[in-house]
Amino acid sequence: MCGITGYTGSGKALPFLLQGMKCLEYRGYDSAGITLVGEALTTWKAKGRITELERMIDPALCPEHTGIGHTRWATHGVPSQLNAHPHNNMDDTISIIHNGIIENYMELKRELLGKGYVFASETDSEVVVHLIDDCWKNCGQDMLKALQKAVHRLQGSFALCVVTTYDPTRIYCLKKESPLVLGHSAEGSYCASDPTALLAGTREILAMEDGQIAVLSKNRIDLYDFDGQEVPAVFVHYPYDAESAQKGGYDSFMQKEIHEQPHAIRETLRGRFDADNRLIMEEIDSLGLNWSHLHRVYFIACGTAYHASIYGKTLLQRAAHISCIAETASEFRYEDPIVDEHTLCIFISQSGETADTLAAVRLAKERHAATVALTNVLGSSISRMCDATVYTCAGPEIAVASTKAYTTQLVMLVCLDLKIAEKLKAVFPEEEKLIRSLKSLPETVEKTLELEETMKEYAQLLIHQHDAYFIGRQLDYPTALEGALKLKEISYVHADAYYAGELKHGPIALIEPETVVVAIATQKDVAAKTFSNMQETLARGANVIFITDQDTDAQDFARVIRIPACMEELAPVPAAVLLQELAYFTAEGKGCDIDKPRNLAKSVTVE
Ligand code: AGP
Repeated sequence: MCGITGYTGSGKALPFLLQGMKCLEYRGYDSAGITLVGEALTTWKAKGRITELERMIDPALCPEHTGIGHTRWATHGVPSQLNAHPHNNMDDTISIIHNGIIENYMELKRELLGKGYVFASETDSEVVVHLIDDCWKNCGQDMLKALQKAVHRLQGSFALCVVTTYDPTRIYCLKKESPLVLGHSAEGSYCASDPTALLAGTREILAMEDGQIAVLSKNRIDLYDFDGQEVPAVFVHYPYDAESAQKGGYDSFMQKEIHEQPHAIRETLRGRFDADNRLIMEEIDSLGLNWSHLHRVYFIACGTAYHASIYGKTLLQRAAHISCIAETASEFRYEDPIVDEHTLCIFISQSGETADTLAAVRLAKERHAATVALTNVLGSSISRMCDATVYTCAGPEIAVASTKAYTTQLVMLVCLDLKIAEKLKAVFPEEEKLIRSLKSLPETVEKTLELEETMKEYAQLLIHQHDAYFIGRQLDYPTALEGALKLKEISYVHADAYYAGELKHGPIALIEPETVVVAIATQKDVAAKTFSNMQETLARGANVIFITDQDTDAQDFARVIRIPACMEELAPVPAAVLLQELAYFTAEGKGCDIDKPRNLAKSVTVE
C-alpha cells in the first residue's frame, strides 16, 4: 500500500517528511515524492527509492514548515516519475497525495477533460487534485467547502492529504476505507498512513474514521464529517514502538497479513462487478484472442501460486468443458508442452519476478500462445511480458509465507474463469449465486478469523510432531497442498498433502497413533468419501483435524472446524485461512522466525 506522511508546525517540514517516509518503506513502494508549501508549492518526485528523491533536494533551500510526502505502491499506472505522487493542479496552487483506489476515476477524468483540465499522469489519483481545483473555484474559494463538495463525487477508497498556497499553513486530510492517523505535539500537527511515521514527533495519536475531514494547523487539529459537521478530536497515547507499529500491533507481518485478507479481497474485487453484478474485466476483453479456436488453457506457477493454479484449472474445466492443465513453471519448460496459437497460458505470480515462471512465459510466447499474467505487483516483469495482466490488490506481502496473496489469487481466478467461460459461451452453474457469494467473501473471511482461538488450540497437536498429513479431494486438494506448504515453510514440521483417495494406495502406511491428519471436506459430491478416508486414519490412532462445511457427526472423534457458509466453489478461501492460522500458531508455539523462515526468499528470482 502507499505510504502517506505530512507535517505542519514550528519546525522544518522536510526532515520530518523524509524520516516518516523511510519508516513506511516496509509497506513496499516503487516511487516517492514530496511537496513543501511556502509562498509557492515546491514538488519533487522520483521513481525508485527515497534516496533517489533525496538526491534531488537541497535541505538548505527548504525552510518550509508545511509539507506532505508519499511512497507509491502502484495500482493504476506503471511506476514512473510522472505517476508518482504528489499530484498538483495546473497552476501549482494545490497538491495532493492519495492511498487507495478511486473507482470512478474514468468518469471524473472525462468530465474534467471536458472542462479543459490537462492530465500529466496515468493515475486514478490525479483526478482528485483537478476535481478539488474545480470545486474550489465554485465554492467561494473556501478550501474546506471545496473538499466537502469534491469528496461527495469520489467513489472507492481513499486516504488523501491536500496542501495549497491559498492556505499554506494547513494540511487537509480526508479518509474513506484507507487508513489515516493524526498526531499532535507542541511542535505541530502530523498525519500518516500508520503510526510508525509519527512516532518521531508524537505518541498522541488519533485514527481518523471513514467519512471525516481533518484540518491540521500548527496549534490545533479540527475534525469534521463529510457534510461539514464538527466531530470531537480525541487523541490517545500510542503504546507500541516503531517495529510493532509497522506490524499494526500484531506479533508478525504474517499475522497482520492473515488479518488483512478481508480488506485485500474487498480491494481485489473493487470495481469488478457493475450494479447488475455483471463482471468487468476489460483486460481480457482486449486480449484479441480467437476464442472459438481455443483448444486448451494452461495455469502455470510455482509454490503457493501453483496451488492457486490447480484451483483455477479445476474450476474452469468444470464450467467450460475445455482442456485445462495446471503445471509447475519449473517443469513446464522441460516437458515439451502442447502449446500453440490455440492455447491460452495463465501465469500466476505474487511478485511477478519468479525466474521459473518468467522462463515459462518466454516459452509460451515463442510458441504463439496467448499469455495472461495474474500478479500482485503493478509493473512487475511478468506484467510487461504477457499480453494481458489482471491484478490482485492485496498490497505488499512482507512475510515470506504467502497468505493474502494466495486468497486474492483464488478470488481473481474465479473472476478470470467466469470471464473465460463467458468468452467460450459457457455458463458457471448457479453463476449469479456464485457472484453474490464471491462478493460476500470478505465477511465470510472475517467470520473465519473468529475461529482463530480454536486453531491455536489445535496447533498444540502439531508443536511436538515431526510429520503431518493433509488430505482432500477436488477443490479441497489445492487447499491440502497449501496447508501442508504453510505448515512446513514456517514451522518446519514435515507435511505432505495427498488426494484423500490416494491414502489407501500407500501413504496410509505412515499413519500410526498420534499422527496428525488434517482432512478437508467442503465439496459435497466427494465429502462423504473424504470422511471415510479420514475414518481409516482414525482407526489407526491418528489425531484428526476435520475442516468442513458439511453436516457431520465427526465431532465425537475428531476435532471438527466448520467454515462459515459460502458456495462450495469458494470454500477453499476460508479453509485456507484456517490452515494459515494452524501453521502460524504451530510455528509460534515452536518459537520459529515466522516472517523470515530459514532457507526461504520472498521472491525466487533464480531457477
Ligand atoms: C509461498 O508461501 C512461498 N513463499 C512460495 O511458494 C511462493 O508462492 C513461490 O515462490 C511463488 O512466488 P510468486 O507467487 O511470487 O511467483
